[in-house]
Amino acid sequence: MSPAPDPLLFDKVVNLCKRRGFVFPSAEIYGGFRSTYDYGPVGVLLLRNVKEEWWRSMVQLRHDIVGLDAAILSPPSIWEASGHLQNFTDPLVDCRSCRERFRLDKLDDPNECPNCHAKGSFTDARHFNLMFKTYAGPVEGKGAEVYLRPETAQGMFVNFKNVLETSRKRPPFGIAQIGKSFRNEITTGNFVFRTREFEQMEMEYFVPPDEAGKWYEYWRNERLQWYVDLGIPKDLLRLRAHDEEELSHYSAATSDVEFLFPWGWDELEGIANRTDYDLRQHAEASGESLDYFDQALGERYVPYVIEPAAGATRTAMAFLMAAYDEEEVAREGQGQGEGRTVLRFHHRIAPYKVAVLPLSRKPELQEPANEVLGMLQPHYMCDYDETQAIGRRYRRQDELGTPYCVTIDFDTLDDRAVTVRDRDSMAQDRVPIDALLDHLGPKLS
Ligand code: GAP
Repeated sequence: MSPAPDPLLFDKVVNLCKRRGFVFPSAEIYGGFRSTYDYGPVGVLLLRNVKEEWWRSMVQLRHDIVGLDAAILSPPSIWEASGHLQNFTDPLVDCRSCRERFRLDKLDDPNECPNCHAKGSFTDARHFNLMFKTYAGPVEGKGAEVYLRPETAQGMFVNFKNVLETSRKRPPFGIAQIGKSFRNEITTGNFVFRTREFEQMEMEYFVPPDEAGKWYEYWRNERLQWYVDLGIPKDLLRLRAHDEEELSHYSAATSDVEFLFPWGWDELEGIANRTDYDLRQHAEASGESLDYFDQALGERYVPYVIEPAAGATRTAMAFLMAAYDEEEVAREGQGQGEGRTVLRFHHRIAPYKVAVLPLSRKPELQEPANEVLGMLQPHYMCDYDETQAIGRRYRRQDELGTPYCVTIDFDTLDDRAVTVRDRDSMAQDRVPIDALLDHLGPKLS
């Protein structure tokens, strides 16, 4: 059985994110800007690690998937062909009483305004297109319109032929991409869960049509396992298949990887069988043939596409929520009890892997501290902190989720050894400086 979601966890994580430099409200000195967020010195490391782990598992460790980085600005013809101009809409209603706007399909009660509680005050639903439109070049108006992509996927479909011709890949093969997407969401919220600017990690896997079912199952399982392998407890994750009426306009079947957020189960990633819809649409609209001739079988076909589509920013938030822990511990070095907050990130996700902490700012400790830092930095992302009492510095690193702290003290000057402190057990080992890389290597590999 899954644990009950903890409603207090949300505020705790959001506060920690601000306090420790993970995530700041965007344009905060101007009062913030419509649910946009900036990733601070620690958050940017977390986000990079999430993306790096996805890339490693999808591209680096496979021979059948190649990468791509396509343009964000795109002509209307792409979105006309993909169906987004017609179909990428949400039902928008206005409350006649308080003038607030809502997404009809997200209302608990479609007859009661959640803001002013007026009943029957909504206008008829209008189809609101979620794509951001802008203009390319100095002249605004018809002919100069371009769109900010609402998904990275189309960049991979329109490059299908280029990749096929240059990469020597043959179905089944995939194209993977990480990048920003933009949606003019009617209602944003839940911190970085739903924003208008976000990052996606998507992969389009092109397969013979009769193998689509097999690969859909394969990617459902692979993608669920990726989160488990990176430390999210199994009971906080589940796969949920979409009902018929939930399916996007291009999908024959979709399953979501869901995470138990503080407000309940919600989507982290969708795995969809997009059939041959996109390639056929683009072939028809562009006049380019986007089929594949299988020489061994003597057959020509338009590949089907299985698409695992994840949100990098949303996934980073799930890693934060899953890692958050509070416990009562003895004050290190003093025996008194105190509470500590610790982010128990998997070490591959942790923003910093090691913190180098000279016990005092005395100049004689700086030389060995710099030596240790210089030795570790080529291998690991390190923090360096020489302010405050050592206990408080350990607490700070716990809140950043740093797996190991290396403390340089006055004994170091005699024995050329340092103290390595483990984030989770708080156990401390004395390790010679010359053996430090060998000591940390197996733990952080
Ligand atoms: N190409 C298919 C596609 O874009 P999607 O389910 O709309 O599918 C994929 O998006 C993932 O992108 C979602 O599972 C979610 O993690 C992320 N995502 C979508 N909209 C988002 C938003 N407004 N804010 C943050 N992440 C979002």
